[in-house]
Amino acid sequence: MSPSLSAPALVLPGRPILVAGATGAIGSQVVRALLARGARVRVFVRSPEKVDDLPPAVERAVGTLEDRESIVQALKGTHAAFYVSPHDEREEEFAEHFVSACEGAGVRLVFSGVHANGKNRLGRFIQRTIFGLLMPHYRPKLRLAERVRTSDTNPVVLIPGNYFQMDEVCREELLAGRYPLPLGQIPRVDTRDVGEAAARVLLDTSVKSGGYALVGPESLSGEDTAASWSAALGQPVQYTPNLAEMDRLFDQTYGGRKALDCQKSYRLVGKIRVSISAVELRQTTSLLGCPPRSFAEYAREAAATWQAAQQPIPPHTGAHLSPAAS
Ligand SMILES: NC(=O)c1ccc[n+]([C@@H]2O[C@H](COP(=O)([O-])OP(=O)(O)OC[C@H]3O[C@@H](n4cnc5c(N)ncnc54)[C@H](OP(=O)(O)O)[C@@H]3O)[C@@H](O)[C@H]2O)c1
Repeated sequence: MSPSLSAPALVLPGRPILVAGATGAIGSQVVRALLARGARVRVFVRSPEKVDDLPPAVERAVGTLEDRESIVQALKGTHAAFYVSPHDEREEEFAEHFVSACEGAGVRLVFSGVHANGKNRLGRFIQRTIFGLLMPHYRPKLRLAERVRTSDTNPVVLIPGNYFQMDEVCREELLAGRYPLPLGQIPRVDTRDVGEAAARVLLDTSVKSGGYALVGPESLSGEDTAASWSAALGQPVQYTPNLAEMDRLFDQTYGGRKALDCQKSYRLVGKIRVSISAVELRQTTSLLGCPPRSFAEYAREAAATWQAAQQPIPPHTGAHLSPAAS
């Protein structure tokens, strides 16, 4: 285990942590994990009504990534900041606003996203070039992650695998016995683990600046994934990769640029086989302080929630509402 990642005895900073993307898949998990650790949290949101369900103690900074000055204001008095790049054609410009504002404020920046990892600039440039050839639409994402990596913010770049929770776009298909998303074999990870790893790094400045892969315990194929869903749902689920169905599901669930990014990504991940290295698993475990959640565990929890939602509501006896009982 890397000494820089060994379990910390954390003293919580008195200043808040700024979380961008707090209404999204990863940002919401970062907020949850920070609150669970008792940290002060400030969310950066453009629609404050979307965070009405957060506790009142969570500070709300209203702004937009389009407006650098609103980020500068939001960073005032913070200990560290979390950034995830939205699916937006202006994402490089947004990232530049956020990164340069963090540099100006002198706070640590923790980023989660796609990154060509490597020890030095040349190694990362070569990886970025190869990755960019395979996934041209990811070139802006790769460039902005490198901007974070080389920023003057003592940055940490977290590089999660494909989120387990992406499968929720095909909940109805899974309940009907089909898994239509194309998956060759790739590292996948639970968004809750990404949130917890980010919270750890945001609070523990002794974690060295650099890039850290975040993975689940194993690399998963479409067949593996369908087998976990079969076991979790207690009924057969077949792996039936289908690009047209995949396109429809992402259009229906997300639409816009996010749907397009997902559709292009899955066209590639359907064809590739990528294993998990021992170093990646060790880094993830060290950051979390425990092994990452398995896909089977996630699928069991999701299936139980979906099946409970399908149960008919039991007839109401009225006993506990009778005047005598009140
Ligand atoms: N899906 C995967 O499996 C996977 C795996 C690895 C990496 N990634 C990367 O993760 C990133 C996406 O993260 P995510 O899934 O957490 O995204 P997400 O769920 O789509 O959330 C995006 C967040 O950004 C906010 N946002 C968008 N535009 C904004 C603006 N102009 N100003 C302020 N906030 C704005 C959104 O707020 P609103 O609620 O106001 O819209 C939302 O909170 C992508 O870069 C993707 O490449 C994804």
